[in-house]
Amino acid sequence: MSILIIVPGRDVTLLKNTLMHELPDTPIEVWPEVADPSQVEVVVLWKHPKGILSDFPRLKVICSMGAGVDHILLDESLPPQIPVIRVVDPELTRMMRKYVVMAVTSIHKDIFAFYNQKKSGKWFQDFYPDSDPVIGILGMGELGKDAAMALYHLGYKVIGWSRTIKDIQGIISYEKKDLKSFVNRSNIIVNLLPLTPETRGIMNEDFFSQLPLQSSIINVGRGEHLIEEDLIEAIENGRVKSAILDVFSKEPLPLDHPFWKYDQVIITPHIASITNQENAAIQIAENFKRYKIGQPLINEVDISLGY
Ligand code: NDP
Ligand code: OXD
Repeated sequence: MSILIIVPGRDVTLLKNTLMHELPDTPIEVWPEVADPSQVEVVVLWKHPKGILSDFPRLKVICSMGAGVDHILLDESLPPQIPVIRVVDPELTRMMRKYVVMAVTSIHKDIFAFYNQKKSGKWFQDFYPDSDPVIGILGMGELGKDAAMALYHLGYKVIGWSRTIKDIQGIISYEKKDLKSFVNRSNIIVNLLPLTPETRGIMNEDFFSQLPLQSSIINVGRGEHLIEEDLIEAIENGRVKSAILDVFSKEPLPLDHPFWKYDQVIITPHIASITNQENAAIQIAENFKRYKIGQPLINEVDISLGY
């Protein structure tokens, strides 16, 4: 029985060494080096080559190296009835909280305008009354809930949208059917949804047309949540004032993509929150031990919901 790490293009030394330390009797391999595919019972995946899962006939547990599992559930070679687990880690949550706070406060304090002023050597204070934006968080799970609470404690008005209603002090919760009212009220949208068939393309022309004028978008979920040309149109027609984007339909973002030329669009290269490999390995090892003794796994994904 072995564990195989399939994470092309990334240095996974820390993940491997921590797994070896936690599970000294289990062979840990890093793809493409695989001694015997029929011995692989657990795979750890991030951006793996699609279709590869059918190479492992004895697969028992699939682990995502990140919080998202869209890269796994969209793979047609995913065998049915095999548990999929994901990373839920306070360090990942903290890192996301800091990114979201940075993005919201940058938009609220109009750092874009000051950056442009600086480029032309201007000292101009008159446009700077403080505003009171409503921050709308799409997705109130591990990351969305935490970011919402951090923003609330900074004094922002925060509302959240999720499949099921939430009861969180100070935060108004909207359920799935109330997306339109939620969008109508949000001056700054923060997307922290998982990518599923239901959420794909959710930020589209219709969505932008429901936003208050001069709203802003922060996308830290997945690129495919956003119809990129509809955002460009919304920026051009003034519905959307600015955007801070960390995730894109195609990563790295192609050099000829129109987003690069907009001053009011800030691009970060999918770094809002990055998995701590040591913490992920400890969780994977814990699940491996549980699987061996038939105990329930932790952070298991509900495959029927897609997250
Ligand atoms: P969770 O699974 O904990 O939370 C998902 C939230 O989305 C839940 O509140 C859920 O509702 C809601 N949701 C799911 N489907 C729908 C729907 N159809 N309609 C309304 N609400 C829905 O995920 P996390 O918070 O851990 O992570 C969210 C995403 O963040 C990840 O899937 C990943 O794509 C992205 N991410 C991005 C990173 C980056 O660096 N840019 C880093 C890490 C994650 P309910 O609560 O009712 O179940
Ligand atoms: C994740 C990510 O899902 O980094 O963990 O996007």
